[in-house]
Amino acid sequence: MSRLAGSLVAAGVTKSYGAEVVLADVSLVVPPRARIGLVGPNGAGKSTLLRLLAGLEEPDAGRIRRTSPSLAVGYLAQERNDAESARSGGQETRDALAAVLRSEFDVLLLDEPTNDLDFAGLAWLERSLAAHPGSLVVVSHDRAFLDRTVTRIVELDEWMRGTTEYTGGWSEFEAERERRRDRHYRRWESSVAERRRIEEQQRRMAEWERRGYGQGRKKKKSKDVKRTFGAKLRQVETVEKPYEPWELQLSLAPAARSGETVVRLEDAVVERGSFRLGPLDLAVGWGDRVAIAGPNGSGKTTLLEALLGRRALASGTRWLGPGVVPGELEQDRAAVTGPQTLLDVFRDFEEGTARTLLAKFGLGADDVLRPTASLSPGERTRAGLALLTARGVNCLVLDEPTNHLDVEAIEELERALAVYDGTVILVTHDRRFLEAFAPSHTIEL
Ligand SMILES: Nc1ncnc2c1ncn2[C@@H]1O[C@H](COP(=O)(O)OP(=O)(O)OP(=O)(O)O)[C@@H](O)[C@H]1O
Ligand SMILES: [Mg+2]
Repeated sequence: MSRLAGSLVAAGVTKSYGAEVVLADVSLVVPPRARIGLVGPNGAGKSTLLRLLAGLEEPDAGRIRRTSPSLAVGYLAQERNDAESARSGGQETRDALAAVLRSEFDVLLLDEPTNDLDFAGLAWLERSLAAHPGSLVVVSHDRAFLDRTVTRIVELDEWMRGTTEYTGGWSEFEAERERRRDRHYRRWESSVAERRRIEEQQRRMAEWERRGYGQGRKKKKSKDVKRTFGAKLRQVETVEKPYEPWELQLSLAPAARSGETVVRLEDAVVERGSFRLGPLDLAVGWGDRVAIAGPNGSGKTTLLEALLGRRALASGTRWLGPGVVPGELEQDRAAVTGPQTLLDVFRDFEEGTARTLLAKFGLGADDVLRPTASLSPGERTRAGLALLTARGVNCLVLDEPTNHLDVEAIEELERALAVYDGTVILVTHDRRFLEAFAPSHTIEL
């Protein structure tokens, strides 16, 4: 950490990918010791802005500047799991964070650092950041973490492609955003009403003239009427219609129920390199809501793979019940990552059906034809959820589903799961999400 730390500045930055403008004239100053939370819906451009600040990509217009040439900037990318998956998601994150924290950077740019961390890891991260003398820009959808970590919120919006700043943590931001939206709505309503009133007056006046009332007086020419009212209308403040955020409506209806026993493991041992899990005995029944809990590296994902039959048992038996249609959202969203497009991923469905469904998950006409690897992680998570709803699965297997999802999507998933009557097996480190899920069974590893 240099003693004369300066500021990191984005000045009027614009960035597009192909025809899509992701950031339009965005400015941000990160002074020494700043604690900034960067928030916004999936695909709004949070990671893009962080990559620009880190100097990993160049803006199309505008500039990224360091006020002191020695300013050292550290960066943690959103996706940290290597494809070999030699370590668990949480272990990867912890190692990457430890490396970036150790290096005494003046500015830390962290993209969703809490994803995959267990409770101890999260507490460690919060302590480390509080003690960090440099400044911090952190992207996160974790409401409690933001409340404890940041003092300023920068919101990116997908409509204007710009930023709005707020003082405080997540809770203050949410309350203030609500107040601003309210005020904006009221101003817009009254400007619309005022316009209507003037137009109605003008219409009546024109009608009055047409019928020849007021004869004997000097007749007003219709041109004059237009001019007078035109001036009146110009005096009314033009308030743009408030943008109504798009709302995800997620419904998870199982196609048909399965038998009473969904899956059973007996004396099961699973191995993964030198890691060994078991012997385990467990049974999941129809309609159970199972939470699998345990610290990073304890084998939660490995257990899911064994339950799904994706990983062979070293010993013991696995029995899958009749009529079980499992549907999985993998921790790395592997089903929606790669060179294929979203329409390729949904090739089992009619194209129109697929497009309509994906649109409900915020994935529009431009998104469905792009390689899935170029979608943001949140967009890929939404696509993964869309696939589960399309298949009408009756046993949901969700590995850290809230990772990468924006707050609106997390809350919608909470609502959808609350009324889902199929079987759910869930791994999550999101405390609020786990509470809302209300597990009927918990497996501690
Ligand atoms: N290489 C690329 N080619 C085309 N489009 C891209 C590329 N990288 C990102 N995008 C698009 O740019 C937009 C912004 O992406 P970005 O990753 O910055 O969003 P984000 O706010 O970080 O989203 P999330 O909450 O999902 O992490 C998204 O619509 C994304 O699909
Ligand atoms: Mg991102």
